[in-house]
Amino acid sequence: MKKILCFLLILPGLILTARSDEGMWLPILLKSIEGDMQKNGFKLTAEDIYSVNKSSMKDAVVLFGGGCTGELISNEGLMLTNHHCGFGQIQSHSTVEKDYLTEGFWAMNKKEELQNPGLSVTFIIRMEDVTQKVLSGIKDKLTETERADMIKANIAKVSGELSKESYQSVAIRPFYNGNEFYAFVTETYKDVRLVGAPPQSIGNFGGDTDNWVWPRHNADFCIFRIYSGPDGKPAEYSENNIPYKPKYFFPVSMKGVDEDDFTMVYGFPGRTQEYISSYAVDFTMNYEDPTRIKIRDARLGLMLEDMRKNDTIRIQYASKYAGVANGWKKWKGEVKGLKKTNALEKKKIYESDFKKRVGMKGKKEGEILTKLGEIYQKYTPLKAEEVYFSEVYNGIEHLALANKTAALLTIPDEALLKAEALKLIPGAEGFFKNYTASVDHKIMAALLKIYAEDLGENRLPPYLLTLKKQYNNNWQEFADAYFKTSVFTDFGRFKAAMENPNLKTLSADPAILLANGMSLWYNSEILPPVGRMITSIDSLNRLYMTAQRTYMTEKKFYPDANSTLRVTYGRVEGFSPDDGITYSAFTTLDGLFEKNMAQPENPDYTYNKKLHTLYIKKDYGKYAAKDGKIHTCFIASNHTSGGNSGSPVLNDKGELIGINFDRCWEGTMSDINYDVSLCRNISADIRFVLFVVDKVAGAGYLLNEMKLIK
Ligand code: ARG
Ligand code: ASP
Repeated sequence: MKKILCFLLILPGLILTARSDEGMWLPILLKSIEGDMQKNGFKLTAEDIYSVNKSSMKDAVVLFGGGCTGELISNEGLMLTNHHCGFGQIQSHSTVEKDYLTEGFWAMNKKEELQNPGLSVTFIIRMEDVTQKVLSGIKDKLTETERADMIKANIAKVSGELSKESYQSVAIRPFYNGNEFYAFVTETYKDVRLVGAPPQSIGNFGGDTDNWVWPRHNADFCIFRIYSGPDGKPAEYSENNIPYKPKYFFPVSMKGVDEDDFTMVYGFPGRTQEYISSYAVDFTMNYEDPTRIKIRDARLGLMLEDMRKNDTIRIQYASKYAGVANGWKKWKGEVKGLKKTNALEKKKIYESDFKKRVGMKGKKEGEILTKLGEIYQKYTPLKAEEVYFSEVYNGIEHLALANKTAALLTIPDEALLKAEALKLIPGAEGFFKNYTASVDHKIMAALLKIYAEDLGENRLPPYLLTLKKQYNNNWQEFADAYFKTSVFTDFGRFKAAMENPNLKTLSADPAILLANGMSLWYNSEILPPVGRMITSIDSLNRLYMTAQRTYMTEKKFYPDANSTLRVTYGRVEGFSPDDGITYSAFTTLDGLFEKNMAQPENPDYTYNKKLHTLYIKKDYGKYAAKDGKIHTCFIASNHTSGGNSGSPVLNDKGELIGINFDRCWEGTMSDINYDVSLCRNISADIRFVLFVVDKVAGAGYLLNEMKLIK
């Protein structure tokens, strides 16, 4: 009886209080959770993580390229990130003769490092709360457009006023759904050279088979070096540049981690939606994700069929397949996790509690949810159509080229037309390099069939409805005729058509007709109403966010991820994804070779020979754990997201113990509903990484630059 009572008393708390493991905190606001972190084992202070007065950990964390994280590990600009984050660079230096993807690459001195045009890393110099300035003059009465315009003007003004050096930049970003604004002063370095990358059989061991999955056995890392101008400031690539001297770099722990140890991750998570309404959760879980999964199921199956049969296709489609599969697998996990954690029910309970509290205070904010509910009634079906549309349209590979080429149809001047048409050839050549028409052909027929069958006739673009009737819903037949004639499905035909553009034939090309037929309808029937509804939803979400913070006072509110620098902390711990299954927190090299033995024919499980030799001889040097094995990866309850890839994983003393690279798919709903019983981030053990650098690659000289903690 007593137990039941306790349970009842605790229940609301369970629903409403963020567990210590949940949260992606802005480093500038860490003071408020410093105590919690220390209670969980952290030995340092908020000031050690972020300080404007002294060097701190934030000086060793960078935004890498478009959307990953990297960390400094030496006084000479040495930086770690994931293999999958540096993949594009590694690939760009690779040829059939020097295949760095397969063989790996290691510079044996600074001269051998490879430059990477277009790649940059960004440091956060400081951040500042500028909410009051950005919102000055903003009144409740303003329309959304007026508000947005005023904020834009205020942001421009505040950006101009912030003190910074000429080589620094300022960005002001909205937080808490546009209720708060923070300014970031940043420094971007553009001379970032590749130092080393393991072969794919180590960096991406497990490939797509293991992506998002635990247990994992890959060392998903590569190493770059950041260079500055001779004056230590950001500079374009030059031979005269010098290795960047960071204000801070992470010491590397050789002691490893144990179950239950405190861990923290410092990086740039991309996007989460922890405070959305039940209507939005319903949309993601019951409409958006299932649609995307269904259409990608078809796409991936057809791609794989041909990739398995033909090596050229396998290589052409490797990266496309990985990209399509990455989202597909994540969403499958997200739906499973949302259902398993009763996310929708929990939101509904939370919302009725919210309304009750608002009502008790005699206030009106409960109406926000009523209004959101009304909008979602119209928004959900329309937005679901948009999801169908975009998965189908983007799934037909050549449509983007047709759409781009359609712009020629508006050029009246013949000379100009010719010039513009010629300009399209080089880009198209790149596209066709990784294209096989027979694959696109099958996929187009399958996707249009799904689209035409799943959407009501009055919700199909009229052009597709006509085709549906004309071909009696036989999309294979439609595709067969189409692929015989269109210039967009064959480079030779396309090139000839661009060298001699004829508007009449071009405008009758089936691909132009399809691209136009679909996009005209989309631009008139879907985009405008969806856009209007999103504006209303955004504005209601902004009010809802404030109201949640006002009434749900026992809950800890951290701002949703938005690609800004965050700290999250947790513990090294396994979990039980399903009844009867328990995942342990570590993996070892044993498991890597076991996977190969179980599926010797799976190319994702091809192991590296050198690694195997070391394994047989147990030649582990100083990198083995206490149990005498090489620990490969570990999982922990850090709240991470896409963009956290490459992030430093640190112990209680702020020493590097791993590199974050993924999450367990059973917990990918963490972007919407973090649940510590199911959500884990996956990291490569830093000792495995150093073992590969030293023993496999023979680049142990790099360790001399690092600060190893024994
Ligand atoms: N799941 C990882 C993250 O979302 C990507 C891992 C890349 N590796 C792969 N085999 N596709 O980015
Ligand atoms: N793999 C992701 C990334 O590349 C990380 C994640 O989603 O957990 O950022």
